[in-house]
Amino acid sequence: MATDIQELLEDSVLVQCRVNGAHVEEEIHPATSLLDFLREQLRLTGTHMGCMTGHCGACTVMIDGQITKSCITLAASVQRKKITTVEGLRNEDDSLHPVQQAFCEESGFQCGYCSPGMLLSTLELLRENPNPSDAEIRKALSGNLCRCTGYQSIVRAVRVASKLYSVDKDSVS
Ligand code: FES
Repeated sequence: MATDIQELLEDSVLVQCRVNGAHVEEEIHPATSLLDFLREQLRLTGTHMGCMTGHCGACTVMIDGQITKSCITLAASVQRKKITTVEGLRNEDDSLHPVQQAFCEESGFQCGYCSPGMLLSTLELLRENPNPSDAEIRKALSGNLCRCTGYQSIVRAVRVASKLYSVDKDSVS
């Protein structure tokens, strides 16, 4: 039995999905996390590694439009799904996405380590609730920890983002 499991884990799995709009087809070890797949195999290092236990939100990505902690998600589970990382968060003309623009305008970052996760959580919030209150903003970002504790400017940035962002004009898939 132990040998069967070991043999199973030694087999590779073919993952086919879309990452930031591009088709991806890669062989992976079945125990590979989505975070490692993105960072190590696809070299998309904008998704950050923090706690590795699903608590800090540094590794947040979107799967089919829903934010997900990639450190506790198996890459093998994203077959035929659409993954969006911070690298995919831009307008079609490569200019800053309105959410990024708002964070720049309001200095919604200090060291920037939490920023990729904050940006994706903000995008999900604004798609569901275009005009959130401060309490709703804080609740939506509660899964993303800022180790510099720069929360005031982050909440301000989300408020500005809600003015700049329009779901109808969003090109991020
Ligand atoms: Fe995934 Fe912290 S690294 S939640």
